[in-house]
Order: sequence, then structure tokens, then C-alpha cells
Amino acid sequence: MTKVLIATEKPFAKAAVKEIKGVFDKAGYETILLEKYADKSDFINAVKDVDGVIIRSDKATKEVLDAADNLKIIVRAGAGYDNIDLEAATANNVVAMNTPGQNSNAVAELAIGMMIYQARKQFNGTAGTELKGKKIGIHAYGNVGKYVATIAKGFGMEVYAFDPFVKKAAIEADGVKAVDSAEELYSICNYISLHIPANEHTKGSINYDLLMKMPTNATLLNTARKEVICEEGLKKVLAERADFYYVSDIAPDCAAELKENYDIRCYFTPKKMGAQTAEANINAGIAAATQIVNFLEKGDKTFQVN
Ligand code: 3PG
Repeated sequence: MTKVLIATEKPFAKAAVKEIKGVFDKAGYETILLEKYADKSDFINAVKDVDGVIIRSDKATKEVLDAADNLKIIVRAGAGYDNIDLEAATANNVVAMNTPGQNSNAVAELAIGMMIYQARKQFNGTAGTELKGKKIGIHAYGNVGKYVATIAKGFGMEVYAFDPFVKKAAIEADGVKAVDSAEELYSICNYISLHIPANEHTKGSINYDLLMKMPTNATLLNTARKEVICEEGLKKVLAERADFYYVSDIAPDCAAELKENYDIRCYFTPKKMGAQTAEANINAGIAAATQIVNFLEKGDKTFQVN
């Protein structure tokens, strides 16, 4: 019998697990559920004889992939697949996929929610500011960026975007002003919302020089990955600019130091929350399960990333 493992240290909503299991039941597969596991050895043991795996931000390292003797496919139920060792997957003849777009609205809503939270001084009772009329820069105009743009326009914000991989005409068609460089985007916008992936080109790229270009009363919103931030640069900016705010869905390594020194100028969610909605879990979970069945039954490799 074909076996599929759902390995989620941060579990899906119950309704999503039910839907995923439904897809595998229909295909005649056995579903194994490993949630809230305490140690990577639990993941390594569970993966040993399964044919397919669904993960979230769980780390599919070389060690995990080498231990998975029957594994044919691993699907990251979500957008970013920086948590999968793609080289090890390929070396083990394992197809790796993501489920692009399925949780984008949830992440975009969180980015907007965090922007309001910070603009209103973290609801501490003192006077904040409004979003209307402010300029927001969307750094990478993919699925999440597009949703952020749509919602921000509803708030009466001026929306700008920079994405070297999207044609300017396509961005402008959405009523968003496309700019030619990250430097230009940061120079114009009071708010920057990050939607770049974490890869060898982007890690540490959001640095001191870039952040110092932002105009007065600047807020950096990070619902992407902590690795894209140059933390030394960020610390320097916060130290030099009392009008700079950093709000992130992923706490940086220096979170305690930032909270101690800058308190209300920073906010970090306790756990990555962007995709933590029932809708996003169901969408991404069903997509992942369906992709596994389609690959194992028909060889469909749509959304393969390795
Ligand atoms: C993604 O890349 O899709 C998001 O960061 C969601 O991650 P999560 O599944 O761990 O919530």
C-alpha cells in the first residue's frame, strides 16, 4: 500500500488534515500523521518507508532525505521551498514540489494586519498614524505581493513595486507603479513589504544602505524569511533612526536585543503566522495531496522545483 506522511511541526488546521486524508483515502493510500514533533529524529524515523511526504516549514535536510528509502515525492505545502535540500532530493531521485499561490491571501492579510498594528502603536492607547495616503513598496510582485497591492489600494495607499522578474507593464496593469530598482523603491516608500524568496542572491540583501534610503517614518514589514535581512545592518538602522520600525512574521536571531533596546518600534510573531489560517491550510494541503497523487499515478510533475 502506498504510504504518505504529513510531517508538520506546526500542524495544519484539523479541517485541512481531514481534507488531505480524504484525497489519500480516495486514492487508496495510507496517511501517517506526525505533528508537533519534538526532535528531527522523529521526522527521520517516520520518513523511512513512505512513498510521499507533505511538509510545511519542516526542514527536509540531506539526513532526512537520505533516510527515506522509498520516497518518490516531497511537497512543501506552501510557497517557499528553502527548507528542502534540493540537491539531496535530486541525488535520492525524489521529486520536490511547492504549492504556489495557495496560501498567498493569508500571508497578505497578515502583512496588512501587522502594518495597521504598527501604525496604531501596537494598540497601546497613544496616537498612531493612518495608512491612507502613505506609500507602500512591494518588494517582489508575486502571488502575495499582488494581494498586498490590492488590499493596500483599498486603504487609499499609493502602491509601488519592484520585481526584476515581472514585466513593468504587467505591474502597471494592476494600477501599481513599477520602479526600476530596489534602491528606488526604498527611497520612495514609507512602508516596504518584503515578498522575496530566501536564496543565494537574496540572503542578507536587505541591508543598512537600502534601509537608510527610506523616507521619514519608515516601517519594514517582513512576511518573507528572516535570512533575507542583514541583521547587523538592521540593528545599526534602528540605533541611528528613531523613526524606523521593524515588524516581522519571523523573529530575527537578534530579537531579544531588539525588543530590549527598541521595544514598541519592533514586533515579532511568536511563530510564523502568515499561512496559519484554516483556508490557507486547506488550500495548500489539498493542493499538496493532489499533486502527490497526480505524480504517483500519472507522473505529473507540475510545480516540480528540483
Ligand atoms: C510559505 O512559504 O508558504 C509560508 O512561509 C508558510 O509557511 P508555513 O507553512 O510554515 O506556515
